[in-house]
Amino acid sequence: MTSPASPAPAEHDYAALPQVSGEIYTAPLKRPAHVGEDWLEPAQTLYSSDEDAVWNDLFARQMQVLPGRACSAFMHGLDRLSLGNGGVPSFDRLSRELGALTGWSVVPVPMLIPDHVFFWHLANRRFPAGNFIRTRESFDYIQEPDVFHDVFGHVPLLTDPTFADYMQEYGRAGWKAMRHNRLKALGALYWYTVEFGLIMENDQPRIYGAGILSGPAEAVFALEGQSPNRIMLNVDRVMRTDYVIDDLQPTYFVIESFADLYHQTVERDFDRLYRGLGASFTYANSAVIDVDDVLHRGTQEYFLRGGRGSGANPV
Ligand SMILES: [Fe+2]
Repeated sequence: MTSPASPAPAEHDYAALPQVSGEIYTAPLKRPAHVGEDWLEPAQTLYSSDEDAVWNDLFARQMQVLPGRACSAFMHGLDRLSLGNGGVPSFDRLSRELGALTGWSVVPVPMLIPDHVFFWHLANRRFPAGNFIRTRESFDYIQEPDVFHDVFGHVPLLTDPTFADYMQEYGRAGWKAMRHNRLKALGALYWYTVEFGLIMENDQPRIYGAGILSGPAEAVFALEGQSPNRIMLNVDRVMRTDYVIDDLQPTYFVIESFADLYHQTVERDFDRLYRGLGASFTYANSAVIDVDDVLHRGTQEYFLRGGRGSGANPV
């Protein structure tokens, strides 16, 4: 499979860390003293046998639900990178193997990192992965991405040449979003594709979003639940749509293929789009609007019953 051509805008030097001016809203994260401006840890953590056992148990749990639900590119990537060989995989080994396949590497970060640093790494085909692993107490749910979410959820798809190119283009798109102060809109695109995206395969939606692939309940809910909407992806519409970060999604967006996602994103004139966007989102996360190509119109029952905090069944 050949990769689509990457039309890199000439005005940016992606080798340099982008500067963020004071007017641009970014999450206020405090940089730990031991990391530099690139936010990289000096090395990957040496995990204890208990921590390796947490990885193994999380891996085994996901493999109970993902075959037949995860997209084939993800399952193929898991196999190619041997992520189920026991314990947290070595980032050095993953980087060597990914490097040979698509030119990506995996680099360790201590925690969530600022948007502009994240974009810079992606634009240079480096995937920043959380160094720490969750504890047994937070086995089912953590808000901050750990090594299981980042490596199990995200890294297998970086073996797919087209998806790998999309991730790099997303990093490049960050430069433009910062210039227009539209990080929120670009963040919604990431959320509804890279984290919670579905893809058509043999006329059925399958999962490619890392937030779904790395969690216990959402795989079944996203594909088979009656509550959520499942709508074909339209980049403009998605970038105007609010999202929730601490519960299952009221709406999932579905792509035809990774080539469809790549072209919809790279060929869109984001300058024009950003000029037409306000500072806040236009559509609620449960909205179905006239232009939508709807695969399933959700009942929203789970959310109407109160969602995660209420103990409602994810149906
Ligand atoms: Fe993620």
